[in-house]
Amino acid sequence: MSTNTPVNKKQVFSGMQPTGNLHLGRYFGAIQNWVHLQDKYRCIYCVVDYHAMTMPFEPKDLRQRVWNLVFDALAVGVKPENLFIQSMVPEHTELAWIFNCVSSYGDVSRMSQFKDKSQQVNAKTKDAFISTGLFAYPVLQAADILIYKADFVPVGNDQDQHLELTRNIAHRFNQIVGEEYFVLPETLYTSFPKVLSTADPAKKMSASLGPKHNISVFSDPDVIRKQIKSAVTDSGDTPAGKVSPGVENLFSILEASGGHPDLISFREQALAGTLQYGKLKETVADVVIYLTEPFRQNRLEIIEKKSSYEEQIASSSEVIRKTATKTLHEVKNLVGLMNVYS
Ligand code: TRP
Repeated sequence: MSTNTPVNKKQVFSGMQPTGNLHLGRYFGAIQNWVHLQDKYRCIYCVVDYHAMTMPFEPKDLRQRVWNLVFDALAVGVKPENLFIQSMVPEHTELAWIFNCVSSYGDVSRMSQFKDKSQQVNAKTKDAFISTGLFAYPVLQAADILIYKADFVPVGNDQDQHLELTRNIAHRFNQIVGEEYFVLPETLYTSFPKVLSTADPAKKMSASLGPKHNISVFSDPDVIRKQIKSAVTDSGDTPAGKVSPGVENLFSILEASGGHPDLISFREQALAGTLQYGKLKETVADVVIYLTEPFRQNRLEIIEKKSSYEEQIASSSEVIRKTATKTLHEVKNLVGLMNVYS
């Protein structure tokens, strides 16, 4: 067997919540990396619909949100055999229960994402409802990762605490059962900086801020050009010899989209105060459109043959489920629970 057969490759796992559209920030921050990692590792990627229920949600929208993210991911190059939907592998939740019982309440209480999200709920809804699921969210995340014995988890550094908790759970589980059963997973950081809103460079590009604030990778070229043309560049308060956040953001987008030979001279001109913003925006728009136009086409084709893609994802979920079932079976044996099928 040659050394680069999939069997010898490290296992990568990551999950994404089905929220909002796939904009440049999410693409450069996460999914682009998912796509590239497929060349080097065995990869499993998951649309986490059980996690999506931890915040107030609409039952009638949930499936649509899930399929939208599936189609988005496929359109930008995630391979269908590497992608599945969390609720099609219910073993994650059973392992999460077992992990609830081996994770420390004190550790879980310290998660800052829980604090942030419960504040969001409090701020948005009149009769604030914070679910137990929101609290247990990181325990389910640990189950997602460990059920596939992932070596690497590509996520942003906002997930550091959750990964640390995952390692704590794995470690504690190993101690309880008296063997090194779970691998302790490591984070794989993405190297691109956070993309900011072009309409307000003081904020991160995000779907929840509204359509003005994010550029979808599936938009018509005209729309993308218009959004980039109206990007905030310099509000006049940038000191000489500095680049304003809005212009810096356009540079980042240009670089993340594959770069451009003029980038260095643009930067020099920006520092010298002679940069023509119109020219920069034209270039950024060209490069972004060149990158995203195939994605838009792919997505249209996928939507045309939607049901065949839905079937493919159902069957890759079935294949991936075999690994999850095996782990859960071993775990139940190790902790002394009953296995329905022995
Ligand atoms: N919590 C992750 C996020 O908000 C999503 C997620 C769920 C995840 N399960 C995961 C990420 C497992 C990596 C691995 O982005």
